[in-house]
Amino acid sequence: MQPAVIAPSILSANFARLGEEVVAVLAAGADWVHFDVMDNHYVPNLTIGPLVCEALRTHGVTAPIDVHLMVEPVDRLVPDFARAGATLISFHPEASRHVHRTIQLIRGEGCQAGLVLNPATPVDVLDYVLEDLDMVLLMSVNPGFGGQAFIPSTLDKLRRVRERIDASGRAVRLQVDGGVKPDNIGAIAAAGADTFVAGSAIFGQPDYRAVVEAMRTAIAG
Ligand code: DX5
Ligand code: ZN
Repeated sequence: MQPAVIAPSILSANFARLGEEVVAVLAAGADWVHFDVMDNHYVPNLTIGPLVCEALRTHGVTAPIDVHLMVEPVDRLVPDFARAGATLISFHPEASRHVHRTIQLIRGEGCQAGLVLNPATPVDVLDYVLEDLDMVLLMSVNPGFGGQAFIPSTLDKLRRVRERIDASGRAVRLQVDGGVKPDNIGAIAAAGADTFVAGSAIFGQPDYRAVVEAMRTAIAG
């Protein structure tokens, strides 16, 4: 297992002050910026695109930007996000007609590639692509909105994917996204996650550092 990473989802940040919010959460000890891209097509919500990613880089953000694409189709946006400064690009297999091709496209653009499994997506989709991935993201809510409740069956799914990653012998990160909070993150880590997205749990509190530290303590068990 790799060192734990906490990736605040800026979906729950104050968008009127986004640059300051990102700087503040990183200063509070967060590792990555989780960047949720929604298109009102693959998911019923509309958020931000490459221009905003580029604006964060221009604002001086040097931390990894973890782009979670909830868009369909996927490929058209990959080069734009690579140019805008994305570090890692994750996508949903249901949204790409050629999953393997999209992974190659992301890596060819110089980014790390992640595949996202919705709560009802079987883990078998990993069978032929795990060796080409840098990260597997298990959704613990249905994608589209922040502030939803963690779906408990994700814990069993995390254990199953953790086994597969360990059997592969590769340094593939296992990320979880949705309803992650200080009071459940310990169990999520114990089930095999090493990369934790949290939106409302962090940005919904006045003291970001206190939440990030509470999460790290719980992860360490
Ligand atoms: C949901 C997004 C999540 C969301 C998480 O579609 O992918 O990243 O912002 O928000 P919380 O942590 O509030 O569940
Ligand atoms: Zn996300």
